[in-house]
Amino acid sequence: MNILVGITGGIAAYKAVNVIRSLVLAGHDVHVVATDAALIFVGKPTFEAISRNPVHTDLYEGVAEVRHVALGQAADLIVIAPATANTIAKLSAGLADDLLGNAILASTAPLVVAPAMHTEMWQNPATVANVALLRGRGVHFVGPGTGQLTGKDSGPGRMAEPDEIVASALAIAHTRSDLAGLRVVITAGGTREPLDPVRFLGNRSSGKQGVALARAAAARGAEVTLIGANLEVDVPSTVNVTHVSTTAELASAVHAAATRADAVIMAAAVADYRPDSVATSKIKKENHGETLQLTLVKNPDVLHDLVVARDAAAAGGIPGTIVIGFAAETEQDREPLLALGRAKILRKGCDFLVVNRVGWSAGFASESNEVILLNLAGDIVGEASGSKLVVADRILDLLA
Ligand code: CTP
Repeated sequence: MNILVGITGGIAAYKAVNVIRSLVLAGHDVHVVATDAALIFVGKPTFEAISRNPVHTDLYEGVAEVRHVALGQAADLIVIAPATANTIAKLSAGLADDLLGNAILASTAPLVVAPAMHTEMWQNPATVANVALLRGRGVHFVGPGTGQLTGKDSGPGRMAEPDEIVASALAIAHTRSDLAGLRVVITAGGTREPLDPVRFLGNRSSGKQGVALARAAAARGAEVTLIGANLEVDVPSTVNVTHVSTTAELASAVHAAATRADAVIMAAAVADYRPDSVATSKIKKENHGETLQLTLVKNPDVLHDLVVARDAAAAGGIPGTIVIGFAAETEQDREPLLALGRAKILRKGCDFLVVNRVGWSAGFASESNEVILLNLAGDIVGEASGSKLVVADRILDLLA
């Protein structure tokens, strides 16, 4: 898609760089129109390098090619992030005193606006009326969220997170609501098993891929329940979240949610073992010699148990839940990696397996991912690479 991203003059302009980056990584042709005020906050070279296209600012540049009209006409989608109170006021009045205003008026593409301003400005009757007017004209708003604002104050007015803006904008552009009416349960993060009141055994999963799945599924119309284990990322307001920590807590939350789910996606990195007992007070060095031995006991395989419960319910005539598992593997070579994936899906019995290379610098905690999707027969039914949101959408295509 040809996407026009309008950047206006707010401190959140620095976060808009990630909006542009995700759209480019998702394969879109992104053209940035920045107002003069936006360029006070972030320099033109940054937007040019990230968007891989020249940045447009001046209404009177490129007049021979009628650029002020051409930019708007060519766009399949327009995203304004951040949108200041002033920009929203100008939009509602239909003003065209700069390049962005002209491009917007010359376009029939969906318009997605991510406001960012102080709470008083967002709640000012003038802004409230302008937003209502624009909504009435079919303009889509993403956010603002509530939280820390520039300076000491906090409240509504914070620009929505870049991933949320991208997911909502792409969903609006595709008018994709292919998961509408579906109840989807997604696990994310990594479980932790306590050793004593201050220590745990854990893993490096941040929850980014699972939260991206939740965000994308909600954007595509699903009713999403996220079971988050020790998440290191914010959860969008479009998702219902239950926070858990241990494998046992995750298991009981996911089994409870799965009974009424159309699909379960197990993106969480689940601890396979837990200490056989949890010390009630801090484990002390003086009570141990040069080595300390721990005895671990096996945790249930939640994914496998879900499939067993699903099959039992299906045998009783209850329609089956689609179950998608993940395989975290450190194998680098493709064929051995696929062999591990094929063996794993047979052990688990789930419908699809997302085979994911992980390691010190791949998979966990990174912003991007690369996966191969297998079905139960071991066939490759898809592959995806890019931002975790792009990968999420590919997995959801399969679900759809
Ligand atoms: N999983 C689970 N319960 C466990 C372990 C894993 O539900 N006790 C799920 C994960 O959420 C993931 C899938 O099973 O969807 C595969 O997890 P992975 O860690 O790749 O494999 P394991 O089953 O743990 O096998 P191994 O560690 O031997 O590779």
